[in-house]
Amino acid sequence: MNFWQQLKRPFFVLAPMDDVTDVVFRQLVAEVAPPDVFMTEFVSIDGLQSAGRERTLERLRVFPGESANLIAQIWGNDPEKYELTAREIAASGNFAGIDINMGCPERGIVARGCCGGLIGNYELAGEIIAAVKRGAPGLPVSVKTRVGLNAIITEEWTGWLLQQNLAALTIHGRTVREMSKVPAHWDEISKVVKLRDQLAPHTVIIGNGDVLSRAQGEQLATQTGVDAVMIGRGIFHDIDVFSSEHIERTPEERIAVLLRHVELYEQWGSTKHFQVLKKFFKIYVAGWPNAAELRAQLMDATTPAEVRTILAQAQLPAAV
Ligand SMILES: Cc1cc2nc3c(=O)[nH]c(=O)nc-3n(C[C@H](O)[C@H](O)[C@H](O)COP(=O)(O)O)c2cc1C
Repeated sequence: MNFWQQLKRPFFVLAPMDDVTDVVFRQLVAEVAPPDVFMTEFVSIDGLQSAGRERTLERLRVFPGESANLIAQIWGNDPEKYELTAREIAASGNFAGIDINMGCPERGIVARGCCGGLIGNYELAGEIIAAVKRGAPGLPVSVKTRVGLNAIITEEWTGWLLQQNLAALTIHGRTVREMSKVPAHWDEISKVVKLRDQLAPHTVIIGNGDVLSRAQGEQLATQTGVDAVMIGRGIFHDIDVFSSEHIERTPEERIAVLLRHVELYEQWGSTKHFQVLKKFFKIYVAGWPNAAELRAQLMDATTPAEVRTILAQAQLPAAV
């Protein structure tokens, strides 16, 4: 049984998100309300095998104990570099598996034939999957993708992927062209489950798109038969989204989580600009009458120390 097959159904995955799911945020989520599986931000194989290596390596940092359920996600279009990177990831011993990004819709990346640009490019996609397996024979290899590039081609594309002997397949229920602009097509995700049952019963299917709570995810798993649900933006609405119990944090408790986030950011010495941290403020500072005012003040902060000063002076209500 590989890593994916051992997880209790349905299980939950925190979606890989660029500039979000770095080691700082993953450690915070692990402390607060962890999912069953984490993924890194997508890591460029070109970046790793080039002069930008040191900076790219930051994306592969892990905190002690997290390796058991952490998947490294990689992207690019050169099979040789995929193999080298997979070998390196396996040798590090820091990851439970490797995921190949075949879904990111960023225009420049797709134009270069990477990520979402691999959808429908059967020859190159096949070479890439084979290269990663060669590089990391001991790790389960998975793919995260969408239901098509410009049009929905679920049967054709995921039917082909399911014949590549993947350990897991994440389906984000939209095409690349749809970006995040239309509701996720969970009916298409259902089709992938049926295809899996016929073509690759051992491949674990993870459904993704617009899930905002664990209860909603459980319901979708029952309806569609997916083994797992991946939640991305939902964590910005609720830091406790993966908790099986309902957690209602007081404003003071929310601020404590924000302060822990800032502390971890400092401890890890991220080279990411302080601005990157600001997108998280809305997770914690929300839900009470003057929260927007406090958030606006925090958005003007330029250092962790300023964040602490603002929060120390804030008047917080006892409950949200
Ligand atoms: C800020 C941001 C960054 C993302 N970065 C990645 C990434 O690095 N790799 C990836 O496969 N998907 C990435 N995605 C897509 C998410 O993993 C997920 O598929 C998408 O957000 C839909 O799920 P959701 O509706 O639960 O957010 C990103 C999404 C967002 C919002």
